[in-house]
Amino acid sequence: MTTKPFLTLGIETSCDETAAAVIADGTRILSNVIASQVDLHQRFGGVVPEIAARKHIEAVFPVIDKALLDAGTTLLDVDLIAVTYGPGLIGALLVGLQAAKSLAFALDKPLVGINHVEGHIYANVLANPQLQPPFVCLTASGGHTDLLYVPEFGRYEMLGRTRDDAAGEAFDKIARVLGLPYPGGPQISRLAENGDREAISFPRGLGGEDTFDFSFSGLKTAALNYINHARQTGVEINLPDFAASFQWAIVDVLAAKVIRAAQFKSVKQVILSGGVAANKSLRHAVALLAKPLGIKVLFPPLELCTDNAAMIGSAGHFKYLAGHSHSWDLNAVPNLRLI
Ligand code: KG4
Ligand code: ZN
Repeated sequence: MTTKPFLTLGIETSCDETAAAVIADGTRILSNVIASQVDLHQRFGGVVPEIAARKHIEAVFPVIDKALLDAGTTLLDVDLIAVTYGPGLIGALLVGLQAAKSLAFALDKPLVGINHVEGHIYANVLANPQLQPPFVCLTASGGHTDLLYVPEFGRYEMLGRTRDDAAGEAFDKIARVLGLPYPGGPQISRLAENGDREAISFPRGLGGEDTFDFSFSGLKTAALNYINHARQTGVEINLPDFAASFQWAIVDVLAAKVIRAAQFKSVKQVILSGGVAANKSLRHAVALLAKPLGIKVLFPPLELCTDNAAMIGSAGHFKYLAGHSHSWDLNAVPNLRLI
């Protein structure tokens, strides 16, 4: 006789993706549905919070229905509801949270709120169910650039974080100035494939310094100055070279610090997570530095790097097993911190 798997319904609405997923036993993705609003926000060059919240309201239950349908299950068979409660846009977060609380209340199912950044880490658990701490984790997205030491699941030590812009934010802002559609990371990354990363020498914020913190504002200013100067003097920017040099200025620092952090903590595993972990140049650069040191590098497949609810479901499963759950007074926390 086979035992019924433990099913977690994950819900994620922290930014511009309405997502729901059904996860079996914490690591098996039975469904992973994402309704992206990217097209809606593109003409504004970034996410408009009010539009995001309204679209989440329209999409959240259809997306949950589809996740259940794709998984071949029903709400009655779900054992746990996991939902992102921060960090993120308040109006956007509230939609997913209210949906999750209503379902959990009506069906009398346990509820667990998940920190979105922690969710990104669990994308690696889905991709590599055997993953065991200790490891060093770089979480780089549109809102975060955190370098964490993870001695055991659920325990985090912040080694460094950005002091200004997040890495993904730097990609998005410069892409916007270049007139490229949102989100800018994948656009710059695509252009960079045909460019020379040494063509333009951009500054490495806090690159050589004895800190695990990051800074991308100096790079952003230098890139803006370069673009403005070219526009004022009528010089055409070689976009592939610009993109490759700009990307490399970010990747170079991220890769060096994640490996230095692994050496500092004497761990032999590093994991990459968050939207920027989809960047091929970053994956390659970290792997290149890690190999001679015998450090293993793990990253999720592209669809699990960017925002999704599968990672929230996985994190929820393990949090619940570890004894965590929330009651009906759980509120959205836009500035929620991991530590
Ligand atoms: O994790 P995510 O989907 O949402 C947040 O939690 O922010 O990350 C989105 C961010 C955006 O800034 C996007 O430009 C960036 O990840 N991104 C990339 C790539 N794919 C997504 N940045 C660089 N290269 C990529 N291939
Ligand atoms: Zn994210």
